[in-house]
Amino acid sequence: MTAAPAPARCSTCSRRRRSREPRRKSRGGGRNSICRASASTGAVRASSRSATDGRARLAVDEFLRYEAPVCMATVRFTDQPVDIGGVEIPAGELVMLSLGAANRDPRRFSDPDRLLLRRNDPGHLAFGHGIHRCLGAFLGRMEAQIALGGVISRFPQMALAVDQADLPWRNTTMLRGLESLPVTLRG
Ligand code: HEM
Repeated sequence: MTAAPAPARCSTCSRRRRSREPRRKSRGGGRNSICRASASTGAVRASSRSATDGRARLAVDEFLRYEAPVCMATVRFTDQPVDIGGVEIPAGELVMLSLGAANRDPRRFSDPDRLLLRRNDPGHLAFGHGIHRCLGAFLGRMEAQIALGGVISRFPQMALAVDQADLPWRNTTMLRGLESLPVTLRG
């Protein structure tokens, strides 16, 4: 009898991979954005001084690019043959689009696996693209800026309460996010 394999760790964020979680769900390299952000809390704090501050907007857009919350778009069907990188997809096929992978495309973003809070390179696909682009994009952005700015200015000592590798990620395919974010509010 062979020994059970050691729990695999995600190559991108070092979290333990669950057995039901397919490998392809982990995109790109680098650790999760919260860990990155906590490593540079000064920068986040500076970025979040005001909810409408341009730096807060850049930081929120970079979080959205780096860890696209809707990492897979809803399904599409080809209405004609499409050639993608030399592979032809016939007409009438179901296609899954990875917005998260597109947001880490090195042909589109320089140094894509780095979280750069002042990256000023609009055009990520966290809200989708085209006719079905998110109707709530403006509201979603604004909510994130207000929430992040408010929490960080209210609790400037906030820090992760667990090892970043132990953060509980949701075991879902289309939506990417944490089940919870354990933090200490005071140092
Ligand atoms: C950070 C927050 C949000 C993210 C990351 C997000 C992401 C997305 C994405 C990627 C799509 C396109 C899916 C596809 O093409 O298959 C989408 C569609 C949509 N979103 Fe959002 N969304 C957010 C917040 C919101 C909010 C706050 C609302 C409403 C108040 C909203 C309403 C919608 C609607 C109605 C659509 C469908 C549009 C259509 O099919 O024509 N979203 N969202």
